[in-house]
Amino acid sequence: MTTSFQPASLRAALLGPLRGTVLELGPGTGVNLPYYAPGVTWIGVEPDARRRARLATAVARRGGGGEVLAGRAERLDVPAHSVDAVVATFVLCSVDDVTAALAEIRRVLRPGARYVLAEHVAAPEGSWVRRGQDGWARASRWFGAQCRPNRSIGPAIERAGFALAEVHRFVVPGPLGAGIPHLAGAAVCPADTGKGTTS
Ligand SMILES: C[S@@+](CC[C@H](N)C(=O)[O-])C[C@H]1O[C@@H](n2cnc3c(N)ncnc32)[C@H](O)[C@@H]1O
Repeated sequence: MTTSFQPASLRAALLGPLRGTVLELGPGTGVNLPYYAPGVTWIGVEPDARRRARLATAVARRGGGGEVLAGRAERLDVPAHSVDAVVATFVLCSVDDVTAALAEIRRVLRPGARYVLAEHVAAPEGSWVRRGQDGWARASRWFGAQCRPNRSIGPAIERAGFALAEVHRFVVPGPLGAGIPHLAGAAVCPADTGKGTTS
């Protein structure tokens, strides 16, 4: 079903309820920062130096502190089981290794904690939308954008051990009338719920 896409209200719904220590991957210039509750202890991991500089300014403007780290989702310099939520919005299309990034997300979450996500994902194989996504994935490398909208993100999240019970699927209107499939919501790892917090 195609929905009217309201990025601001989607971000508010996903991020507003979060509490405690939140690790955000690929925050860019800080588009999500205004949507967090004031008491949240925020840590961002952003590999792009230019975006990171603008992010640091946005974090300072937000007040309440926050830590900006250089790094990549595939290898986080963050202790195991140390955060109350991981947020990654429109990031898994960009990372080099989706499997490694999801393993790291799982490693740093406290038992039962949430991975909050919003991603554009692959259209069905053989559809004209998918052919467009495949073309864009190839072309984006030439522009240095590294956006691969043809990734099957949902199955990858499930293979990493997360349950998608609170993740919603919807279609957003794209160029030339294309319907771009999206996933958004929260995933938890049932196998980790109730585990100790050491390792
Ligand atoms: C399309 S932007 C999304 C920005 C923001 N999260 C949003 O919701 O609009 C993708 C972001 O992921 C970052 N990124 C790319 N590769 C990454 C990686 N391996 N680990 C973490 N972030 C990465 C990019 O630098 C960029 O800031």
